[in-house]
Amino acid sequence: MSFPKGFLWGGATAANQYEGGWNEGGKGPSTADMLTNGTHTTPRKITRTWEDGLYYPNHIASDFYHHYKEDIALMGEMGFKVFRMSIAWSRIFPKGIEEEPNEEGLRFYDEVFDELHKQGMEPLVTISHYESPFYLTEKYNGWASRELVDLYVKYCNVIFNRYKDKVKYWLTFNEINCGTMPLGGYLGLGILNEGTTDFMNQKDDPQLRFQGLHHQFIASAKAVKLGHEINPDFKIGCMIAFMTSYPYSCNPKDVLKCQKEMQMGNYYCGDVQVRGEYPYFAKQYWKENNIQIQMEEGDEALLKEGKVDFYSFSYYMTNCVSTDPNLEGIGGNLIGGVKNPYLKASDWGWQIDPDGLRYTLNELYARYQVPLMVVENGLGAFDKLEEGNKVHDSYRIDYLREHIKCMEEAIEDGVDLIGYTPWGCIDLVSASTGEMGKRYGFVYVDSDDYGNGSFNRYKKDSFTWYKKVIASNGENLE
Ligand code: BG6
Repeated sequence: MSFPKGFLWGGATAANQYEGGWNEGGKGPSTADMLTNGTHTTPRKITRTWEDGLYYPNHIASDFYHHYKEDIALMGEMGFKVFRMSIAWSRIFPKGIEEEPNEEGLRFYDEVFDELHKQGMEPLVTISHYESPFYLTEKYNGWASRELVDLYVKYCNVIFNRYKDKVKYWLTFNEINCGTMPLGGYLGLGILNEGTTDFMNQKDDPQLRFQGLHHQFIASAKAVKLGHEINPDFKIGCMIAFMTSYPYSCNPKDVLKCQKEMQMGNYYCGDVQVRGEYPYFAKQYWKENNIQIQMEEGDEALLKEGKVDFYSFSYYMTNCVSTDPNLEGIGGNLIGGVKNPYLKASDWGWQIDPDGLRYTLNELYARYQVPLMVVENGLGAFDKLEEGNKVHDSYRIDYLREHIKCMEEAIEDGVDLIGYTPWGCIDLVSASTGEMGKRYGFVYVDSDDYGNGSFNRYKKDSFTWYKKVIASNGENLE
């Protein structure tokens, strides 16, 4: 048996895409609440206030806020050992700047964590998943300002103390490395520069973005230190969107280009958070891109003191990199690339590559030598609700089965993999497009791209399949 005893099987969500109740219980608006819906081809818009005639899908999302007992029972039925969720910062501090937290928001998560424990699950909590209080964007231009470090640490202090006996696993920032690319300006850093209206085509200022990332590194390091003081048993991890790239050819120019993309896209952030210092290649990148990182005295020491306990990442697809501009391109999570002739792609053009997961796990373990967790993986697909409220999602089962096999092989290779939480275990709103129709779940949520529907939950075929996988600790994949 390859999966170790106690392996953390489960599923993953994020408050902004799943929870709903956006203006209930004292919650303030978050950056995600200002995003309209879009499609694969029509980009989402960012508006500073809610405009008539536009639809904001994160407001209702999957309505976990009112369905949490039912949802957690379904996860319990599947045998989840862990449930990855995030806390909406603006539910705890509606504007981010208040002295006192919102008790009603804190109580909501108390109830969620109690329910999870009742069903035999450990919560795995992302402290900040693609949303910060929108007020902080208006007042400070988000993480561009160092003010956010203390506000974030204040928020961590409240939730760490409140939930110290209920939550053991924490992630400081979701896909922190999205800040290395223009899309991450608003998505991860809450930076909204004048003139930006289009989520996929933001007015970019690399200086602000990389300075903002530095602030997040400092905030993460402070949170790790603080968390360990509050409860030495806390396990606090980083979370990286891992976008494995292959050189398209063995032309050394392609290989070098690919190496550079891997360095800045994937390793820059993980190196800081796991090793406690910027990697050697950072300086050259800053120089070439005219970026000056303002460091305060003590920052370097802090990064060393606040190293994470484990490394977690999302893995959906891989791409190729080439110096030839004439090759066919393809999309992907956060970045696109060159089409790989050996791989098939999802309906949204993300190339499916289970072997790439084994490769990635080996690369990561060789580099960091800390426990790894795959906290997002899965197939975004159109599902059809058929008679009797059935969804026959054999395509999803195939995707997950092949990835699980490759994780098993990586464990046999010697990788210390401790958990697996496929994305959107109960259907939720897509981050990139705002669609509900891009579904990942084992459970179907009856709602369309405009929030019409009963919000009833229906088990898909993959529900029964995943239940067997967990019960057999990964032995039975049929
Ligand atoms: C990751 C994010 O990038 O991928 C999630 O952490 C997101 O928030 C997931 O939902 C899948 O992407 P999408 O665009 O299909 O929702």
